[in-house]
Amino acid sequence: MIIPVILSGGTGARLWPLSRTMYPKQFIRFFDGQSSLLGATLRRLGHKADFAAPIIVCNSDHRFLVREELTAGGVEAQAILLEPVARNTAAAVAAAALVAARQGNDALLAILPTDHLIGDTTAFCDALVRATDLAQRGKIVLFGTPPSGPHTGYGYIRRGKALEDGCYAIEAFCEKPEPETAARFAADPAFLWNSGIIVAKARTLIEETEHLAPAVLSAARAAVAGATEDLGFLRLDPTAFANSPTVSIDTSILEKTKAAVVLPIGFAWGDVSSWSALWESSPHDAAGNAVEGDAVLIDTCDSIVHSDRSLVATIGVDNLIIVDTPDALLVADKARAQDVSSLVARLKDLN
Ligand code: GDD
Ligand code: MG
Repeated sequence: MIIPVILSGGTGARLWPLSRTMYPKQFIRFFDGQSSLLGATLRRLGHKADFAAPIIVCNSDHRFLVREELTAGGVEAQAILLEPVARNTAAAVAAAALVAARQGNDALLAILPTDHLIGDTTAFCDALVRATDLAQRGKIVLFGTPPSGPHTGYGYIRRGKALEDGCYAIEAFCEKPEPETAARFAADPAFLWNSGIIVAKARTLIEETEHLAPAVLSAARAAVAGATEDLGFLRLDPTAFANSPTVSIDTSILEKTKAAVVLPIGFAWGDVSSWSALWESSPHDAAGNAVEGDAVLIDTCDSIVHSDRSLVATIGVDNLIIVDTPDALLVADKARAQDVSSLVARLKDLN
């Protein structure tokens, strides 16, 4: 059985002003109004008997939102780990791996982000299962997809020689490259985008974190050792967890480890990480506009318009992001979608 570890602790800053610290993107019903991204992640796992009850790792502030999603999806988690503060994904994964390792160091984990759109659920589940053999033998299996453009918000994997089970060795992993580097990588067929999905044993993740990010592992270890049960949640020790460096698993471990391999995925995959990514994944009108809410667009193309509030009207513009919410309006160049997180950081400084 594979234990899904669901990472639900991001703030979705690049989707401001819709995604907010207290109500981030994984809880928003983006597309059909029916299902949140977290709900869709949980639903995908119901598809196969190969998955054990999931471990969810989220911020303490979102615990009831997570529980609502679990109840709505009829899913019973084996643990909901509460982070007192966000320390990014290395600490979140380390804490989950330590909790899973209570069932044995050989527990197999599938680390699953909550901001993905996946076309073919069966193919997705099959890919996770296909990765288990190599994972059982100490590999960290990443899942890669061919780049569709020089996106700077993803990790890029240069694949090497073919191994077994459809996997490849990794010659290089580069997280969120600069635009010129991203353009070079995206034009080279040897490169794949890192999807953010990982299959590995708890022991492998713990050992690699100990080796490559020891301060993260010692903070996570102390936070798990001092964790307290609280209404069915597992509250990580706040002081210990706050001691962890704030680093992603990508930069602290995946860029450096020698244990990783990559499995190219054949199913449609999208990341709802920014307004431009959301534009790519949304249905478009004939002029390439993705529109939600009230809008009248004249001679406007390749833009994303989202209005929760008033009528949005545009004339003679292209490649814009326009997001109108009750208390904030964002107007941005679609090519600058990655910079929305810097804007959010600026707003935090002003408060
Ligand atoms: N529990 C917890 N705690 N979860 C977190 C935290 C945290 O502090 N920070 C982020 N997450 C969750 C997010 O909610 C998301 O589900 C997942 O971890 C990945 O975080 P993102 O912030 O969305 O990462 P990214 O999109 O910039 O980059 C990652 O995903 C890309 C593909 O979508 C990297 O893995 C890239 O290499 C990859 O290409
Ligand atoms: Mg993401």
